[in-house]
Amino acid sequence: MKYGSDKWNERYGVDEYVYGKEPNLFLKENFKVIPMGNVLCVADGEGRNSVWLAKQGYLVDSIDFSPKAIEKINRLAQENDVSIKTICNDLLSYKFGINKYDGIVSIFSHFRVEETNKLHRKYFNALKPNGVFLMEAFAKEQLLLDTGGPKNIELLYNTENIKNSFPDGKIELLKKDVVYLHEGDMHDGKAVVVRAIIRKPSE
Ligand SMILES: C[S@@+](CC[C@H](N)C(=O)[O-])C[C@H]1O[C@@H](n2cnc3c(N)ncnc32)[C@H](O)[C@@H]1O
Repeated sequence: MKYGSDKWNERYGVDEYVYGKEPNLFLKENFKVIPMGNVLCVADGEGRNSVWLAKQGYLVDSIDFSPKAIEKINRLAQENDVSIKTICNDLLSYKFGINKYDGIVSIFSHFRVEETNKLHRKYFNALKPNGVFLMEAFAKEQLLLDTGGPKNIELLYNTENIKNSFPDGKIELLKKDVVYLHEGDMHDGKAVVVRAIIRKPSE
């Protein structure tokens, strides 16, 4: 079995976009909570979300540790005539900076709870005051379903995990939802997700 970025390089090493080219629906329906400006898309995959945000007028940075993902993000950006700053690096070690982003978007990025806590602390610090963290990820109940996501309960979320990882954030939305995903063959059908919109308070 392949681990780390090798697994993702293999998955993305096909011509088609495995999660499609359309943005995630929760992002599409809620992006306006993010003040216009600089956005970081983490674990961005093949770029469907970052490219769409760039088309809405945001200045977008995109990070993923798979070189194949970065190649496909750049290709999709070119197809759509937008420019994105791509960063090929490991989220767990990358330094995101302080007070830099108006929004951080995390769609189906899965880590163990300790890593999630550390990552979310880094994201919170990287947001500007009034900046927004927007996420969707599979909930623990998704383990029983075969419609996508990691097959390891430790990599799945509940709302409590997310709440605890942003002790100083203002929670504007945090809920578990049953949704119907149509994001390529890998995310297809009824799924249970956790969705969050969390704002960094203004100073
Ligand atoms: C399920 S995909 C989601 C892709 C994208 N967000 C989307 O919704 O289309 C998860 C992504 O996380 C990336 N990833 C996993 N672990 C990572 C890490 N430690 N650092 C950077 N990227 C990582 C993978 O390369 C993969 O592209």
